[in-house]
Amino acid sequence: MSKKLWGGRFEGKPNEILEAFSQSLSFDQQLWKEDLQVLKAHVSMLSKTGIIQKPIGEKLIGALAQIEKEIESGKLSISGDHEDIHSFIEAEVQKRVGESASLMRIARSRNDTVITDVRLHLKKALQELEKLHHAYLEAWVNLAEREKEKIVPGYTHFRRAQPMLFPFYCLAHISEGMREREALDMTFKWTDVSTLGAGALAGTTWQIEPETVARELGFSSTFFNALDATSDRDFILAFYFVSTLILTHISRWCEDFILWSSEGVGYLHLPDALCTGSSLMPQKKNPDPLELLRGKSARMLGNLSSLFVLMKGLPSGYNRDLQEDKEALFGAIDTMKISLAMAAEILKGVSLKGDALAKISKDDFLLATDLADELVKQGRSFAEAHEMSGKVVRYCEENGKSIGELSVPDWKKLVPEINEEMLSHLVFEKSAKRRESPGGTGEKAVAKQLAQAKSWLKSKTA
Ligand code: ARG
Repeated sequence: MSKKLWGGRFEGKPNEILEAFSQSLSFDQQLWKEDLQVLKAHVSMLSKTGIIQKPIGEKLIGALAQIEKEIESGKLSISGDHEDIHSFIEAEVQKRVGESASLMRIARSRNDTVITDVRLHLKKALQELEKLHHAYLEAWVNLAEREKEKIVPGYTHFRRAQPMLFPFYCLAHISEGMREREALDMTFKWTDVSTLGAGALAGTTWQIEPETVARELGFSSTFFNALDATSDRDFILAFYFVSTLILTHISRWCEDFILWSSEGVGYLHLPDALCTGSSLMPQKKNPDPLELLRGKSARMLGNLSSLFVLMKGLPSGYNRDLQEDKEALFGAIDTMKISLAMAAEILKGVSLKGDALAKISKDDFLLATDLADELVKQGRSFAEAHEMSGKVVRYCEENGKSIGELSVPDWKKLVPEINEEMLSHLVFEKSAKRRESPGGTGEKAVAKQLAQAKSWLKSKTA
């Protein structure tokens, strides 16, 4: 392995398996750009404050800029037996400027560097994710408007319960999305804090200016306490939480869509382009992207719980366990990007099948609550009304009829006070459109929610 950043205290060479086991270059090389950025800001602060001489500062910054160009163009590849990206970059600077490369280590530790790198990396990712999330919510709004007139059965216990306007269903997920966005914004705020200048754990005796570094790196604020800055990973936990939340919400509507597009239910159309086939059964058209999204949420929950488990027993200060935060984080960012893009594609591609819905609308047992409500309006207690409406359903079941097929004598027997006005409300479509209570599935209530959602979405710059 190449020269260590910490050889002095040690006699002989480290164990080879230890080197292979503990290296992080194979994955933290993803932070090369951020590491260079952090070093440049640090060196320019050291130079500005007179901690290092200006000409040396310029030489170091020149070397860092050259390394950046060379990695970008492919001339320099990140490889070799370096412990991590920080060691690799310092070795490259040293090749260019000699021993003065180590001056970059004044008032700086890998402990505060690595976490500042990660914060920069995650900030960038969160900005992209907010855009993708915005587009995902727009896809929900567009779907709600495209299928504005459709009425679908709402379920509880996956048994048909009450009819609802399809946009009402979409708005449930938009409503979740609004909270998701708040959680994304909060995660961004927690991430947008510079931790450079914390040193190894306790700050430094040098007269540094962490604020200057933070400003140069584009952070909104600077750490409050050096020990906390180097120890905690709560902003990554926040990222996993919001990612798990988003994927859990997505997973639930995916489950709906899988059921609604299945042979037994059949009113959601999934275009061929969003399905895959079976290698054995030629007739199969499987909803794989929906199933995969359901699967991704499980893995994200794993990330959240494994980082919590990692953190919970750690004593204060940096511990090497914390290196384990990175691989999962990089993977999680990629997962979130592709998952949000996939979810939006699904929403753009699906449609509702009017003919299948028309058949379901004949199932007027979903109107049993409306019948009970009408009976209460006629003066019955709710208990009585509930009982009578239940008996109507049982009578229909026993006689193979729908509520709409009951004859006048049937009605007279079951509900003596029935009248035209009451019957006129027992219509599938009307049942959905009349639930005008705030946040309900009624026509006006839905129009109001949709307008609110749209103006909220507009207010969020993507
Ligand atoms: N690769 C390490 C990490 O990701 C960098 C910090 C190493 N610090 C140390 N004291 N060994 O956490």
